[in-house]
Amino acid sequence: MQSLNFNLIKEILMKYPQKKEYLINALHELQNAHPHKYIDDAIMDECCKHFKLTKSQIFGVITYYTMFNTKPQGQNIIYVCNSPICSNMGSDNLYDILKQKLKINDNNISEDGKFSLQKVECLGRCGKAPSIMINREIYTGMTPEKIEEIISKY
Ligand code: FES
Repeated sequence: MQSLNFNLIKEILMKYPQKKEYLINALHELQNAHPHKYIDDAIMDECCKHFKLTKSQIFGVITYYTMFNTKPQGQNIIYVCNSPICSNMGSDNLYDILKQKLKINDNNISEDGKFSLQKVECLGRCGKAPSIMINREIYTGMTPEKIEEIISKY
């Protein structure tokens, strides 16, 4: 399985001061750059060195936040808001449509490896529910028709 190039890990980390308050932003960028969109051992090792933290401290962070993945994902990650407002506005239905359309397997990855599908807590756009996020792009006021159109761009 493809991993993130070692030099690219270093290059990304160099952008962040060696203070632990920058860890989360660095992890987001590293995960996004990874071909399988997750935090693997190589990334964890380099983060330990850069931020002077232990592996268990970093593991604690990536398992606490639902946006971080500890297992390989599809090339693009679709996050469907599962909080009450979006849920009441039909996000459960959107999730089911995506699951069926993209042929999502038991590992939450589509048959073609292009997408992962995850339910997450509030994306902070409750006023325009239901909301989804693909990678780091948020889409609001989603309908089944809009979702088809957006997915086809990826
Ligand atoms: S409840 Fe879905 S964005 Fe806040």
